[in-house]
Amino acid sequence: MELKGIDKQILQKLKESKLTLENIAVSTSDELIRKIEISKKEAIKVIETAQNELGIQPVTALQFLEAEGKRGKITTSSSEFDGILGGGIWTQELTEVAGGFGSGKTQLCFQLCINVQLPFDEGGLEGNAFFIDTERTFSPKRIVEMATYRGLEVEEILENIYINSALNTHHLFSIVDTLDEIIQKKNIKLLIVDSFASHFRSEYIGKERLVERQQKIMQIAEELISLAVKYDLAVVVTNQIMANVEEFLFGSPEEPALGFAWAHRPQQRIFLRKSRGSSRIARLFDSSRMPEREALFYVTESGLTDAPFSSDFYS
Ligand SMILES: Nc1ncnc2c1ncn2[C@@H]1O[C@H](COP(=O)(O)OP(=O)(O)OP(=O)(O)O)[C@@H](O)[C@H]1O
Ligand SMILES: [Mg+2]
Repeated sequence: MELKGIDKQILQKLKESKLTLENIAVSTSDELIRKIEISKKEAIKVIETAQNELGIQPVTALQFLEAEGKRGKITTSSSEFDGILGGGIWTQELTEVAGGFGSGKTQLCFQLCINVQLPFDEGGLEGNAFFIDTERTFSPKRIVEMATYRGLEVEEILENIYINSALNTHHLFSIVDTLDEIIQKKNIKLLIVDSFASHFRSEYIGKERLVERQQKIMQIAEELISLAVKYDLAVVVTNQIMANVEEFLFGSPEEPALGFAWAHRPQQRIFLRKSRGSSRIARLFDSSRMPEREALFYVTESGLTDAPFSSDFYS
């Protein structure tokens, strides 16, 4: 690593940390300080130098628009749902999917694991999925069912979904830390953490541990966003919310959802809720691109869809 103008001692520390130039360039100064012992001023200089060396320079709004148009999107299999998202789940950002029990969070994740593998002109990214399962709800059988309905090569679909169970928050951190290699080797274009919140909630109990919990949540969110940007992949995390939309947005006094700081972290937040029969409503919040809107879709045997089977109308 070159890093012109950075003193030798810091270079040595960077070398020992095994951080790559890309890792450094997409870090925040606080992240870097957590990883190596340097001052804030030094961290900022190191990051700027790394960014210069990689040629990450300011762009015009027009260049930005062009780059945004090229960013990948994964279809949800519902055109109405895709519509409120601006084409599907976007790469290079973190999307939070929140909702109550049975609202369809995990079903959406399964559908995305299949859809990311589709050709570009069918709403996919011709890439693979990595599913971090904290609740042991990953169901290969359900993937088989969904893929079969769509006439896809079932075995190939299953082969391209990598699953890792995260036993606790510590384990979640260690999995995320080792993702660089597999993302590159296996062309991972979708990374899922289902559910993101559960271990944090069960391990960091009580008001006195709330600050620590928030710090950890933010830390892992930063790491996930770095991966999304660095490898041009979509990151989706789920979050079970017991109550209503207000609680989703602001947290309840007893149990702040993921905390106020978190609310500003994901670049997209989607709230799912049950409606009649197999229908579900998705509502988009906090998008910097799209207005707050709702979409109606269905969770059926075939997976997510715009149009239900006729029997679903009456169930
Ligand atoms: N094989 C299937 N055929 C039709 N609908 C199904 C099938 N499997 C699941 N569903 C629907 O999906 C719902 C479960 O949704 P899902 O598992 O995504 O909920 P969730 O939001 O992840 O909930 P939790 O917070 O408990 O994890 C079921 O209640 C059912 O309506
Ligand atoms: Mg679930």
